[in-house]
Amino acid sequence: MDEKNSLPEPSIFERMRNRLTPEGIPSDDRGRMRMVMDSLILHIHPAKVEVSSMKWTYTWGLGGLAALLMIILGLTGIVLLNNYTPAVPQAYLDILEINSNVWFGELIRNLHHWSANLLIVVSVLHLIRVFVTGAYRPPRELNWLIGVAMLLLVLGANFTGYLLPWDQLAYWAITVGTSILSYVPLIGQWLTRLVLGGPEVGANTLLNFYSMHISFIPLIIFGLMSYHFWRVRKDGGLTVPKSSKQTEDPKPERVTTIPHLVHREFIFALAWTAALLTFAMLVPAPLEGIANPAMSPNPAKAPWYFMGLQELLLHFHPLVGAIVIPSLVIIGIFTLPFFDLNPKSVGVYFRSRRGRSLTLLAVGIALIATPSWVLLDEYVLNWTLWLPTWNTLFSNGLIPLAVILLPLLLLDSWIQNSFKADTEERVLFIASFLFTAFIILTVIGIFFRGPGMSLYFPWNMPIVTH
Ligand code: HEM
Ligand code: HEM
Repeated sequence: MDEKNSLPEPSIFERMRNRLTPEGIPSDDRGRMRMVMDSLILHIHPAKVEVSSMKWTYTWGLGGLAALLMIILGLTGIVLLNNYTPAVPQAYLDILEINSNVWFGELIRNLHHWSANLLIVVSVLHLIRVFVTGAYRPPRELNWLIGVAMLLLVLGANFTGYLLPWDQLAYWAITVGTSILSYVPLIGQWLTRLVLGGPEVGANTLLNFYSMHISFIPLIIFGLMSYHFWRVRKDGGLTVPKSSKQTEDPKPERVTTIPHLVHREFIFALAWTAALLTFAMLVPAPLEGIANPAMSPNPAKAPWYFMGLQELLLHFHPLVGAIVIPSLVIIGIFTLPFFDLNPKSVGVYFRSRRGRSLTLLAVGIALIATPSWVLLDEYVLNWTLWLPTWNTLFSNGLIPLAVILLPLLLLDSWIQNSFKADTEERVLFIASFLFTAFIILTVIGIFFRGPGMSLYFPWNMPIVTH
């Protein structure tokens, strides 16, 4: 072990606490257990950490919380697994059984459900934290890529889990969600059949989703997670600003991981577990009547995390809304560390003072522009009517896309000329704009779309009965 990671000599108090002999050897079984635990912890963390990187405001504990949620999901998932059969209609009956007759079954199901949904929110917030502190730049680009892959897998785990209760909500959300796959050029139909295991959502889909859900996806996530942690360490620990204090202070203050960091992490994990348990006791996971393929709800909506995508489909030709735009966004996120490289502002929230103002500006513009565009497109713009002879891929896809991209390009050149924004601030501005726009589309899709996917205020939403 190098000097940086070697453990300091144990003090007399540490020897007593850890049940060590004066030579530093464990004196009994508890001492040996303690040594195993410590060495496990020191595989994840370095022996010492910088005091400044322990501040909550550096990470908000979001990566750690995502890891805790994964552990809760794994543990509750195993209990659910033992009481669940992936068959039609048994799956639904098993959920009723879990909710009523399995010891703590309902609590465990609620915990699994809410942890899964929270994991999406936490992973995205963690991504935002990493993004706004520029922590994806070299040498951390690989960890960024692994993170993006984990986020996609977390969405995959949520999506496959969604079908398992086999109620109306599950059946129709997965029907709408998987219909997006059919728009993939050339292989769309084949891909949909492969995923569904047939022409439509049915018993084979349930079996496919179940096997993906309980083995393939969680195994890869856990594998990547271990590598992700190791890389944080390998890349030199958490990102801290290279500016002011750090350069003036060549030897930043450091403390031992055990107990300083580990105690904080333990209290954090305990508090979150208690909060999640309380929430799961009070708020049940949704469950509707058994899936009925003959009775479609109106509106039929995808799971909430895909509602932004479903909203895009209402405004664009499916090829553009479901394939071109999401692919461009995913490529943009994946390649970010390769074109936004400035090492100077790494660790500084929002890059600079100007970066902070530009982010606020981008969020403000997106808050006004996105709902305005949705309303305009809903009630005024009608490209297919105005360009009746054009192929709809152009009239309802590429032209509206160009109409949206043009103001974005103008905004970009405006901040360059008027605010003298550099590349990293421009990336921050555009990303903040697009991200806010996507959140607004998701909110509109979840709360403001009613029967026939028309726009309604949530408090005026008509109830459709069948
Ligand atoms: C299951 C999902 C994830 C887990 C469990 C996880 C866990 C962690 C943990 C524990 C850390 C160190 C502490 C912290 O920053 O909070 C970390 C750092 C990091 N994560 Fe994640 N992460 C996940 C998803 C992601 C995603 C979606 C991204 C980005 C696309 C990402 C990129 C990074 C990067 C670049 C670092 C290093 C940050 C730095 O040095 O400041 N991770 N992750
Ligand atoms: C990333 C990890 C995971 C996520 C995001 C996730 C997500 C979900 C979701 C959203 C549901 C539907 C819950 C409901 O509304 O009833 C579900 C159900 C289920 N999950 Fe997971 N899960 C994960 C890991 C696991 C693991 C590791 C197992 C098994 C070892 C598992 C087993 C199950 C079972 C058996 C069900 C059906 C019971 C039910 O719906 O309550 N899950 N999962």
